[in-house]
Amino acid sequence: MLLRNVVLADVDAYIRMRCDPAMMKDLGGPLPREGMEEKVGRDVRLAAEDTAWTKMIIPEAADPSVVAGTVSLWSHEVDDQYISEVGWMVLPAFQGQGYGKRAVRALLEMANEDGRWGLIHAFPATSNLPSNGICRAVGFTFVGEQSLEFAGRVLDTHHWVIDPGTEWT
Ligand SMILES: CC(C)(COP(=O)(O)OP(=O)(O)OC[C@H]1O[C@@H](n2cnc3c(N)ncnc32)[C@H](O)[C@@H]1OP(=O)(O)O)[C@@H](O)C(=O)NCCC(=O)NCCS
Repeated sequence: MLLRNVVLADVDAYIRMRCDPAMMKDLGGPLPREGMEEKVGRDVRLAAEDTAWTKMIIPEAADPSVVAGTVSLWSHEVDDQYISEVGWMVLPAFQGQGYGKRAVRALLEMANEDGRWGLIHAFPATSNLPSNGICRAVGFTFVGEQSLEFAGRVLDTHHWVIDPGTEWT
């Protein structure tokens, strides 16, 4: 498995992830197809500026066009404070095989080497068992419950945090 930066041609993978009812079940439901070119374009630009990372999870280095999912790291304001947040999605054909966990570990390693992100937070929906499983398996610390806005919807989430510079599992 490797991570590579998002490119404009990843719009198809974005549609399969973000416009799919099953994939978006715990994220407030599928997003409209129309916004996807704009979303991928914005993520490509932020990756080029190196202000937010969107990494595509690639199962086989030999074929970087086959995408298993994404893992992202960005900074934003929560309760008047800037925090770094990690998010992830793994397509159904690749779920339950450890891709989510391995991609999050790889991203934490990159964040630690980069050095600017500080503590890294995650906010999986309270109902999302595999996502909370990733936090537990990688060694995030559970902080508490938190209501958060995602893509214009308010979600009930579990707040987890990790220091990418410490020993994680
Ligand atoms: C959540 C998601 C990313 C998980 O990815 P994945 O690659 O299937 O997860 P992994 O195989 O790496 O498993 C991670 C951990 O969760 C555990 N897990 C998986 N499914 C679980 C379930 N239903 N209940 C409890 N734990 C579960 C795994 O056992 C593993 O922990 P372990 O190593 O201690 O056994 C994927 O299901 C997904 O993209 N879902 C839809 C989109 C989404 O919800 N994104 C997250 C938004 S926060």
